[in-house]
Amino acid sequence: MGRRRAIAVRASRRLLLLLLALVALWGGGRLVQVAWESHYAGARGPYLQLLTSDGVSILWQTVRPSSAVVRFGPAAGDAREELVVPEADTRHRVRLEGLVPDTDYVYEVAGLGGGRFHTAPAAGARVPVRLWVQGDPGYPGPAAEAVVEAAFAWMRARPRAGRPLLDLWLTTGDNAYRSGSNPQFQKALFEPRAGLLRHLPVWPAYGNHDARRWAFFDIFELPAAGEAGGLPSGTEHWFALDYGPLHVVFLDTQSADLGAGSDMARWLEADLAATDQPWRIAVFHHPPYTKGSHDSDRWRDSRGRMVRVRENLVPLLEAGGVDLVLSGHSHMYERSHLLACHYGASDTLRPDMILDDGGDGEYVKPARPGAPRAGTVYVVIGSSSKLDQGPLDHPAMAAALARMGSLVIDIDGPRLVLRFIDRDGAVADAFTLHKTGAGAGRTCPGT
Ligand SMILES: [Fe+2]
Repeated sequence: MGRRRAIAVRASRRLLLLLLALVALWGGGRLVQVAWESHYAGARGPYLQLLTSDGVSILWQTVRPSSAVVRFGPAAGDAREELVVPEADTRHRVRLEGLVPDTDYVYEVAGLGGGRFHTAPAAGARVPVRLWVQGDPGYPGPAAEAVVEAAFAWMRARPRAGRPLLDLWLTTGDNAYRSGSNPQFQKALFEPRAGLLRHLPVWPAYGNHDARRWAFFDIFELPAAGEAGGLPSGTEHWFALDYGPLHVVFLDTQSADLGAGSDMARWLEADLAATDQPWRIAVFHHPPYTKGSHDSDRWRDSRGRMVRVRENLVPLLEAGGVDLVLSGHSHMYERSHLLACHYGASDTLRPDMILDDGGDGEYVKPARPGAPRAGTVYVVIGSSSKLDQGPLDHPAMAAALARMGSLVIDIDGPRLVLRFIDRDGAVADAFTLHKTGAGAGRTCPGT
């Protein structure tokens, strides 16, 4: 009996060791795969990043190691400076500094050509601002191209006197499907947008599909130290960006702690309290309200991220006077009423939480910058490269469309106009957010 037990113990130990070996082999193989796919060795760029009022980064990759020479100067005139990096490398980054705000510049990377860019206006400058927002743009192909072409055709037909075609290019995350691998970023972003990236940096939100490899934060240079305005965050996962009258906060709803009192929540609260910019927009991937291809009521959907965003971050956004929240994740379009104090599931929405239903395409809110809980519009834009199914019946929404498209947002003085340009070039939805009159904000009932 004793001998049999010993044999059985030895056999189960061997089985356990075999299982552990298999798990280690699988884990090791997976690690190698993730590391391998986080890397891209081909040629890329040049592309711009971290364009501020006084500087810009120019990045590119070469197949063989080479030195770098960049010439640049104001577009008006022939004066050019030359920056030389003699060390040979395949990955290149040159930062141009000491630039003049709100000015056209040209640059050229020796051997690779260059482009033209427009520096950001100083924070607080009362200039009109045009944003283009792609939602979940990571599926390359004809549908994504049709959406881009439609938005640019619309913008080209409506140029702004004395201003660039557009100022800011944002995404709501999921920039490269399925895994955010570096080769997928090449296919979904760098190949189709090569021309645009030479002139304008993309400001990307961090989506769940971006987080499966280690490429995102390697590719993008984001202002952890407050380089673009706002409070330094100390991380590229969340940060602020000032552009003329606009303050934008980018949040990481994928990998950051979404708890009340988390590092990101504390930074967000402090950053919004510190800014005096009249217009405030927040950008992150997981929407607090959606009944599209994701359901913000379901705790199990996306591991509760949408619920935690709504319960822990939305109160801070509203207290900090955020006017507009842009999210993706659901691959369609939804636009809310002007809301305040709606932090629960969709069946807890009460009429007093709707400050303006926006049914006529115009919302009115007080002019005071940062007035707390004076009304926020929540837009889900996730259909810039793929359309999915969903009931689109969230009661917080004033409009909802199962249609592909992207957003063009114009801010001018006291008005913000958001247009959803569909893939055929039609304005499928639009609204104006008009700031006028007195009003100090409000407190939520029951608090
Ligand atoms: Fe997503």
